Amino acid sequence: MAHELGHKWFGNLVTCFWWSNLWLNESFASFFEYFGAHNADPSLELADQFVVDYVHSALNWDAAAGATPMNWTSVIDNDSVSAHFSTTSYAKGASVLRMLEHFVGERTFRNALRYYLRDNAYQLGTPEKLYDAFRQATSEDLSYTQTYPGIEIGELFDSWVQNGGSPVVNVDVNMNTGVITLSQERFLISTPATPLAPQQWQIPISWTHSGNLDFTNTKPALVLTDTATIQNAAGHNFVILNIAQSGLYRVNYDDHNWEMIASYLRGSNRQRIHKLNRAQIVNDVLHFLRADKISITRAFDVLSFLEHETDYYVWAGALGQIDWLRRRLEHLPAAHAQFDTYLLSLMDTAIGHLGYNEGASDSTSTILNRMQILNYACNLGHAGCVSDSLNKWRNHRADDSILVPVNLRRYVYCVGIREGDATDYEFLYAKYNASQNTADMVVILRALGCTKDETLLNHYLGQSMHNDRVRIHDKTNAFSYALQGNRENLPIVLSFLYANYNEIRETYGGSARLTIAINALATYLTDFTLISELELGASFGAAINVVNSAISNLAWGNRLAPEIYEYLLERNSAVTVAAPILLLFAALAARFLH
Ligand SMILES: *[C@@H]1O[C@H](CO)[C@@H](O)[C@H](O)[C@H]1NC(C)=O
Ligand SMILES: *[C@@H]1O[C@H](CO)[C@@H](O)[C@H](O)[C@H]1NC(C)=O
Ligand SMILES: *[C@@H]1O[C@H](CO)[C@@H](O)[C@H](O)[C@H]1NC(C)=O
Repeated sequence: MAHELGHKWFGNLVTCFWWSNLWLNESFASFFEYFGAHNADPSLELADQFVVDYVHSALNWDAAAGATPMNWTSVIDNDSVSAHFSTTSYAKGASVLRMLEHFVGERTFRNALRYYLRDNAYQLGTPEKLYDAFRQATSEDLSYTQTYPGIEIGELFDSWVQNGGSPVVNVDVNMNTGVITLSQERFLISTPATPLAPQQWQIPISWTHSGNLDFTNTKPALVLTDTATIQNAAGHNFVILNIAQSGLYRVNYDDHNWEMIASYLRGSNRQRIHKLNRAQIVNDVLHFLRADKISITRAFDVLSFLEHETDYYVWAGALGQIDWLRRRLEHLPAAHAQFDTYLLSLMDTAIGHLGYNEGASDSTSTILNRMQILNYACNLGHAGCVSDSLNKWRNHRADDSILVPVNLRRYVYCVGIREGDATDYEFLYAKYNASQNTADMVVILRALGCTKDETLLNHYLGQSMHNDRVRIHDKTNAFSYALQGNRENLPIVLSFLYANYNEIRETYGGSARLTIAINALATYLTDFTLISELELGASFGAAINVVNSAISNLAWGNRLAPEIYEYLLERNSAVTVAAPILLLFAALAARFLH
């Protein structure tokens, strides 16, 4: 609601001149969606949620070599207009605005927006007009001109608008001399076939060090345009950049700095590092691991503090990427089992801390944390989570008036359906059929996809085509829901897809929507035979991308699995004999990839 309200000013009062710069509408609406609503009700913690929802998703999106800039000049027809209603125009644009607010300060930021709206009311907005408003506001701000002489705010802003992708700042700390060396490059999750031209951002840098940890001041100390050095006092101190992740960039440190951060995070003062920095650290490290920018040993060393971590934001920064890793090991059953053991032990403290029931005085982030952690733990088969959920489900089935608490429904229903039989499925399906609440319907639709029964699953997928109550954008999610609940449903989902390809395309509302549904499969294709099956059955273009992406995922898993496996075996203190066998398996599987 706050988002749409934001459009009264950004979109209606001042309208973007053309779709190519859609962000002039959407990034402001997305910004106020969180920060406007935050001012109305701070207990919702939306200012902090912005970071794990929008900054993290913008960085994740920008890690692809094909990520387009906020000013995307190729917007020329209906398809490219639609495509630009993307993470770039919403989450990334809003993250850039938040970065600028921390850079110029709240007051000057507000003045700049006022000038922009006042000078362009009932007219078209352009990036240049927005930069002008920022130029005026900063020129009236003595502290800005004194702190950042020579920094032209329009150029700084424009470097974020024109560049596709987002940067990583590489940090090298010389603890003998105190010299900290910074450089920047575009962060890419994998190396593209044709190298990209070099890019530069003007990056506002805030930082602190372990000699005097201070996470209250997000005012950047300098702007990194190319490379830079900071003279810190010499001494055995680690540094952390990007306070409260106020800037839209990742940070990679030299190995020793990482080592010190890792050891500090395991210690009892862990919480002195801002929760949003702990969230950035785990999210960055997991991306660096995927991109080969950190050693496996160091990455797991840093992640090891999760064993003690109970904070929502930190887990939110971790879970999505951890699950990506887990899927990469799925075709290697021994490694996969070790990884699950590892994850369950990491989550133990958090689960104990949260408990299975909501408390009357739980904060928003505690409620969200219980949802995300237990949802994942139940999916991994965590014994306590599964048995508590089954209890709640059975009580509800026995007496309809004993409701499952709203926030726990997603995983309680899922466990009920996964562990139950046709009568459980029919019970929940009747609830879907009768529900008048669209939010609850989506929760139920997800949960119905948790069935492991082939007949019921086919009924479920059939409903995605034929049931008018399933809204069009929920239809495309049916495949993912059927796989999120149970990976082993993959063969059933694939045969359903082959058998009903044309009909699905029609009932889902055309090829574009079918492609969305098929793309969602890539991440679940973890088994080589299934991939080749899809390849053979692929009479449609969308499948090619899915197959390629699945193969590169599989190759990643094969390449790194032996080392990850060895680490896990050691950590889970099992016997270390199987690694060479796994190596052999990976080598064999790799042969099929070429
Ligand atoms: C968008 O970027 C192109 C160059 O890529 C530039 O020529 C054009 O002026 C930019 N448009 C705006 C509105 O900034
Ligand atoms: C583009 O979309 C508009 C609005 O939906 C439609 O009226 C128009 O016919 C479309 N143009 C083309 C070339 O498909
Ligand atoms: C679904 O609801 C309709 C009426 O809204 C009812 O006629 C039908 O029997 C219901 N189906 C199931 C399976 O509950």
